[in-house]
Amino acid sequence: MRTQIAIIGAGPAGLMLAHLLRQQNIDCVVLENRTREYVEGRVRAGVLEQTTVRVLDRLGLGERMHSEGLVHEGTNLAIDGEIFRIDMAALTGGATVMVYGQQEVMHDLFNAAEARGVKIIFEAKGVALHDVDSTRPYVTWQGGRLDCDYIAGCDGAHGASRGAIPSHVIQTFERVYPFGWLGILADVPPASHELIYANHARGFALASMRSAGRSRYYLQCALDERLEDWPDERFWDEVCLRLGEQTAAQVTRGPSFEKSIAPLRSFVCEPMRWGRLFLAGDAAHIVPPTGAKGLNLAVADVIVLAAAFAEFYHGGSTAGIDGYSAKALARVWKGERFSWWFTSLTHRFPDMDGFDRKMQVAELNYIRGSRAAQTTLAENYVGLPM
Ligand code: FAD
Ligand code: DHB
Repeated sequence: MRTQIAIIGAGPAGLMLAHLLRQQNIDCVVLENRTREYVEGRVRAGVLEQTTVRVLDRLGLGERMHSEGLVHEGTNLAIDGEIFRIDMAALTGGATVMVYGQQEVMHDLFNAAEARGVKIIFEAKGVALHDVDSTRPYVTWQGGRLDCDYIAGCDGAHGASRGAIPSHVIQTFERVYPFGWLGILADVPPASHELIYANHARGFALASMRSAGRSRYYLQCALDERLEDWPDERFWDEVCLRLGEQTAAQVTRGPSFEKSIAPLRSFVCEPMRWGRLFLAGDAAHIVPPTGAKGLNLAVADVIVLAAAFAEFYHGGSTAGIDGYSAKALARVWKGERFSWWFTSLTHRFPDMDGFDRKMQVAELNYIRGSRAAQTTLAENYVGLPM
């Protein structure tokens, strides 16, 4: 089999890239090692930036998002239960975010794939990259071989692509946080119509949602926490404590139908290109979830990458391809900084003393009283311009 771009991974980065390339009449094949049901079933991101919303619109795939997604003009912060609102739209000249789950985005991308000529090979096991630094790279998997001009490594944090780059040509930067997020989904109305990011002496909590009838809550937890130690009642008690009395009064409790723990990590691999291989999304960088940047950074990468391939195939210039890594990384580092800052501001670190906590509270109070500080948060939250 031969194609122009071999895409490894059918997550948000890989599938969005495939749609963007097909829109430009560039041929591609997506190799995914799991099933569609598995990829679509993973409960992950919930908040889409402006840029992500716009690209779905540009692809003509935004219809369901606009009818079912929730537009948020603001977000809330809480200090030991005391809430204040950041009016993102007012601070950014009208920018908003869209609450629309990653599962829904994946559903829309998969549903439109066949009709638009996006070829996906599911359950491609043992994917391996070959001759990446030559002009004739190819990809193999159990029972198949795909020859191509370029490879897009969109296979997430644990994929095969990054490992195909010799270690001496990449530099990695990492921060592992000493805690995770315990998240639940429950079919109960959300406590608040906008999100609440809560800094509490007992640790971080987040009240989020998927729809008017479905809530998503997170609690900062220890890395060795066991799910069986968190029956729903304990979770609800703790989340109410951390969100504070005012919000707790609005919390509707109910049985959770999903409960999982995610560790928090910052990670960047530089450069994002080697020879004919281009990394995009979680394959190249990870952010802690605070601030909801992961999926959005993945989408921003593939917008730049798709434009670079279009410039090459339709304009005959390699300038975009050659500039991809530097351009993508400039945005990535800003996303890394914001996610790291927001995590540092809102979480309880094990080595924190009384002074450190006073600094967090002082910074939150400063944000509360400063339009400049709120604008900084708001413009990062809704997404920096491309
Ligand atoms: P992935 O989604 O990891 O996709 C990679 C794909 O490649 C997968 O389908 C995988 O099966 C496949 N694959 C892996 N290895 C191979 C292989 N060897 N061969 C073939 N295929 C392979 N981000 C936000 O923007 N907003 C949020 O609100 C947010 N909340 C989050 C909450 C949680 C609990 C978690 C865990 C993450 C959250 N994120 C959020 C992050 C976001 O989910 C990821 O950044 C996003 O999924 C990255 O997309 P991706 O396509 O790069 O990688
Ligand atoms: C969600 C996840 C996040 O990381 C975040 O910052 C906001 C919302 C969510 O899953 O709803």
